[in-house]
Amino acid sequence: MKTRRQFLAAAATVAVALPARGEIPAGTNVPSVVPEGVPLFRFIQINDTHYQSPRAEVIHPTYLQANGRVHWLCDALKSGGVFPPVDFILHLGDMTHQHSVDRRQELRTFKALLDTLPVPTYTVVGNHDNVQGEGNPEKEAPYREVFGERFDYTFSHKGVGFVVTDVSGTGMPDLPPARVLRREQRFREHLDSFGSQPVIIAAHVPLLPVRESAVLAKSFGFVSHYVREPGLLEIVRTHRHHVVAVLSGHLHLSGTVWSDGVAHIDVCGTASYPHDIALHTVYRNCLRTQLLRLPSDLLVPSTNIHGAHRYGRDFTDATHPDYTGYLMGSAAEREVLVPLRRPPRP
Ligand SMILES: [Fe+2]
Ligand SMILES: [Fe+2]
Repeated sequence: MKTRRQFLAAAATVAVALPARGEIPAGTNVPSVVPEGVPLFRFIQINDTHYQSPRAEVIHPTYLQANGRVHWLCDALKSGGVFPPVDFILHLGDMTHQHSVDRRQELRTFKALLDTLPVPTYTVVGNHDNVQGEGNPEKEAPYREVFGERFDYTFSHKGVGFVVTDVSGTGMPDLPPARVLRREQRFREHLDSFGSQPVIIAAHVPLLPVRESAVLAKSFGFVSHYVREPGLLEIVRTHRHHVVAVLSGHLHLSGTVWSDGVAHIDVCGTASYPHDIALHTVYRNCLRTQLLRLPSDLLVPSTNIHGAHRYGRDFTDATHPDYTGYLMGSAAEREVLVPLRRPPRP
């Protein structure tokens, strides 16, 4: 494996940069915080790996060399010299591409890769992992058989609660209404279970549009450019006294928006250009999130799904006046600091 010690060395020494208010979409609020003490723990977010089993019938060309980026990442995590030590991996979904006939085999192959990593992985189901089958037992079966009941669940790590929610079927006409009610009931119960403890939420699809909604709808091309059922966002608002951040993927671009002091951070993932992952560092007073690109020799611009390769033109919005900023987010979106201590509940 290639050694790329410089890759994360740069990340480890990045100066603390507070978000500039002028770079954040209107109507948001950005708290000020400086990390205190040494890190309590770190974890890495990976998502939208769109891995295809080498045994798949057809290797789908959309995400050229996606498997190679997954293998590089696994090797980097195992080598111990690329990233700072992390306690666990959080995979935000679309682990596999699943154009294979045998979805179980695809998921099993990917899980076997995760099982080689030196730290545990917590998974979130993505729409490619269950073919948009949220609430459909038949479509969920392969993921359930391979990863167990990791749909709506919680875990706790060194004083921080994590709430995982399955939103893989958002916006689909066949999403069962009973599933939406159940999704929101479980989400509320899980947030309640942590009392006033700081909580990080993990959902495959962002709860808010991270670009101008009308532009993002066009560049993404699917109705699920944010979670279309509004209940979860309302529940986050009622729990804003202890929710720190909402982490997501699915869009295949990177960006951060703020709402009620909560950071909504969406990460591109490895399959699509610009191929970001996230390093999350928890201090006693704040969460620090840094978006990191994979090494330059792994970048494949044609995998950008928001631009000229797909549409014959690139996209911008009011706060991202060039297409690179539209794809990657501003510097303030790519290095985010969020306080763990929240204002008291009103
Ligand atoms: Fe994806
Ligand atoms: Fe997705």
